[in-house]
Parts: sequence; structure tokens; C-alpha cells
Amino acid sequence: MAFPHYRRLGKKSALTAVAFAIFTLFVITSLDLWRKGVDSSSKPLIDYDSHLVDLTLVRNATDRGAVCLDGTPPGYHFQKGFGSGLNNWLLHIEGGGWCNSVPSCYARTRSKHGSSNFMEHKDSFYGILSHEQSQNPDFYNWNKVKIRYCDGGSFSGNSKYEDQNETKLFFRGQLIWEVIMDELLSMGLANAGQALLSGCSAGGLATLIHCDDFRALLPKVATVKCLADGALFLDEEDISGRRTMRSVYHDVVNLQGIEKSLQRDCVSHLKPTQCFFPEKIVENINTALFLVNSAYDFWQIQHVLAPDTSDPHNAWLKCKMDIRACSSNQIERLQGFRTSLLKTLSSFQHSKDGGLLITSCYIHCQTWMTSTWHSSNSPRINNKTIAEAFGDWYFNRREVKEIDCPYPCNPTCFNMVFSELHGD
Ligand SMILES: *[C@@H]1O[C@H](CO)[C@@H](O)[C@H](O)[C@H]1NC(C)=O
Ligand SMILES: *[C@@H]1O[C@H](CO)[C@@H](O)[C@H](O)[C@H]1NC(C)=O
Ligand SMILES: *[C@@H]1O[C@H](CO)[C@@H](O)[C@H](O)[C@H]1NC(C)=O
Repeated sequence: MAFPHYRRLGKKSALTAVAFAIFTLFVITSLDLWRKGVDSSSKPLIDYDSHLVDLTLVRNATDRGAVCLDGTPPGYHFQKGFGSGLNNWLLHIEGGGWCNSVPSCYARTRSKHGSSNFMEHKDSFYGILSHEQSQNPDFYNWNKVKIRYCDGGSFSGNSKYEDQNETKLFFRGQLIWEVIMDELLSMGLANAGQALLSGCSAGGLATLIHCDDFRALLPKVATVKCLADGALFLDEEDISGRRTMRSVYHDVVNLQGIEKSLQRDCVSHLKPTQCFFPEKIVENINTALFLVNSAYDFWQIQHVLAPDTSDPHNAWLKCKMDIRACSSNQIERLQGFRTSLLKTLSSFQHSKDGGLLITSCYIHCQTWMTSTWHSSNSPRINNKTIAEAFGDWYFNRREVKEIDCPYPCNPTCFNMVFSELHGD
């Protein structure tokens, strides 16, 4: 699997940089916040320091066996709520792909996605995590937690690996989820009036897997909802007719002993790998759920539709780096991918409590960056930012089930452009 580096083309009017983690290994790339038509002399909008939040390692996690791939304790960043948000909680689960083999999981033990020894001691809270009302109109003053991802299995692993050479790997995602919940409950989450479990990418999948568990931990009278961002990974044939994603998930599920964390109803009649696919999980979630995803999610285009292994002559490389460089045939494949995505959502679209926002930008994860969540230049659907549409749904201001028109019709889109794509 490839690890893309990307940056936004255009003027170097860098306001901030955000870390963005993708697939089997982590990659940190800096992203210039997108500002259309603003010159480099304009003042930064963001005060960096006030957005930095300390890392907390979970107390007693090691005693309970709840450890990262390398055996170190897991962690999270906590920012206390204030004002009317004092009793409300927003949790966001970090993404970062999965590891599906002993070597790929072992490689992670030397990164923040497999060991808290490598996690930043401070992390920046932007977008849905921002404490500034101008960036985050509905949730700015809530208690906020960013849960770090170091198990490689979307917080669902239940096993361990050890060979004669003393290579040890801990697949304890499920226990990590449990100890972090225990700690947050003791810090006030147990008395939450309103709560949201959210996550992006592999963290969005973790959100789906644990959404009903989260609901069950909180008071019956509390409003509890879930938000999965960029998590609609499709069980779709790639450009060579292979099911690359299914084989990745098969390996993750088997290596990490994930079956026990999957919905019992699902595993009773389908293979565990199928029950790890979001489309199956979504069918059985009872808690109010909002899905935000691009129909042209770049991670999926690069890894599900046109993975390197199925494109030996790099015919898709330019298109994967910049959607504007796609040929008409490739655009047709992308439109077909969009059609498949919408088809998997056809019953969700009729769910009573569900919310849906399908955008048409070349992007992956849209909730935790200021530029995609809520700013004057953010993508809009029906003239609303993602933050506004999501807030409307969370607070029952209106029903939100919106599907943007197909690429390239939306001029407000934030389309990612990559400077290079790395193979492994
Ligand atoms: C952690 O362990 C100590 C000693 O074993 C115990 O007193 C404390 O209550 C534990 N804390 C949590 C949060 O479980
Ligand atoms: C252990 O290490 C040796 C020498 O480096 C290697 O040949 C062998 O395949 C390894 N065994 C396992 C189970 O990884
Ligand atoms: C779009 O929203 C902005 C502010 O949210 C508002 O000023 C503007 O009038 C709206 N435009 C339309 C066409 O509704």
C-alpha cells in the first residue's frame, strides 16, 4: 500500500500545518490551509499555542493489558469544556490505517501509530476539536478528547503475537477502548448531558464499531450520537477486478483477533471480514449516526479503487495525485465508484435518525481541519459548511441527508493535490 505525501498547490500563504496520518505506516505531511485569493501578507487566523493540548497516558492501562502494539500505554489529549459546554463531551478517535501483517505491525512499533513513546506530547485541536467559536460554532466549548490510535486494528484487536526471535506484538485495541472509556467516565463523561463519539478514517471505523457501546455507557437521559468521517470503506472491486480492500481487511481481522469485537448478529451469518466493512456495521447501529464522506475520497481512490498493486504501469498515478489530471475514462471510473458508494447508502438514506453528507471533493476526512470543517473558504453544500450541516443534525434543527452533485460541479470544493505518492 502506498503512503501518499500531499500538499495543496497554490500560494504559500501557510496559516498552519496539520498532521494527517494514512494507512500502514504513518506519514506526517504539512498541509497549507487553503485560502482562496488571500495573499501571503494577510495575518494568520489561528493562534497556534492556544490550540495545543497535552498528551495523557492512561493510568493503569499496562496492568490491564491495554497496550499499544509495542506494549507501551495508550494515550489521549483532553481539553476541558467551559461555559454552557461544561457538561458535554466530544470524543474524536484518531485515524491512521491498519496493519495487516507481522512486519507491517512491527514497523508501527517504531512510530506513533504503534507506540506512545513516539506520540507528540502536544497535539493541535482544530476543526471539530477547536475551542474557538468562529471555527467550531456548535461544539467549541465542550469537553474534548482526541484518542490516540496505536493498535493498528481500529480499537478492536483481541490477541497477541510472539515468535522465537522474541518479536512481540500486542493486539489490544478492544482493551484500549475499554480503559480509555473507564478513565473518561471517571473524569465526568459518566454524567454527560450531551455527547458525541466521532472519528476519522480508521478512527471512523472504530467509531462505528463502538458507537452502540458508547451509548450504553452513558446515562439514558443523555443525548448521545456518533459521527463517522471518511470511514465508508467500500468492499469494491479495484481497477484490475481484484478485491484488494477485502483481502486487507481479511488479514487485519485474522491477525488481530477482531471477530470478538464485531456485531454478534453479523458474525453469526457472515464472515468476520464482511462484518468489519462499514456498510454492514451501519445497518445494525441503533444509536443516531451521521456519516460524512466524499464520493471521491482520495484514500479510497488510491487504495481501494486503484491500488499500486493493480496499476503496474502507473496509468493512474497522475490522476491519483490530482483529480484534475484524470482522463475521461478515469473520471468515468470515479463516477462509478461514487455510484457504488451511494448504492451502499440507499437504506441508510431512509433511516429515521441518521444524517448524511456526501461531498464531491477530492479529500479524505473533513471534520478536523479548519479548512474543510468551518471557515469562510470551506466547501459548502446548499450554502452550509460541514460544521453547520452537522450541527443542524445533532441539535435537530433540520433533517440533513445531502448528496452533492457529481465532480466537478461544486466550485467551493477543497481538492487535495499530492506532490508525490510513495509505494512501500
Ligand atoms: C490504578 O491503580 C492504583 C493502584 O493499583 C489504584 O489505587 C487506582 O485506583 C487505579 N486507578 C484507576 C483509574 O483505575
Ligand atoms: C528468526 O531470526 C532468524 C535469523 O535472523 C531468521 O532466519 C528466522 O526466520 C527468524 N524466525 C522467525 C520466526 O521470524
Ligand atoms: C450563504 O451563506 C452566507 C453566510 O452563511 C450568507 O451571507 C449568504 O447570503 C448565503 N447565500 C445564499 C445564496 O443563500
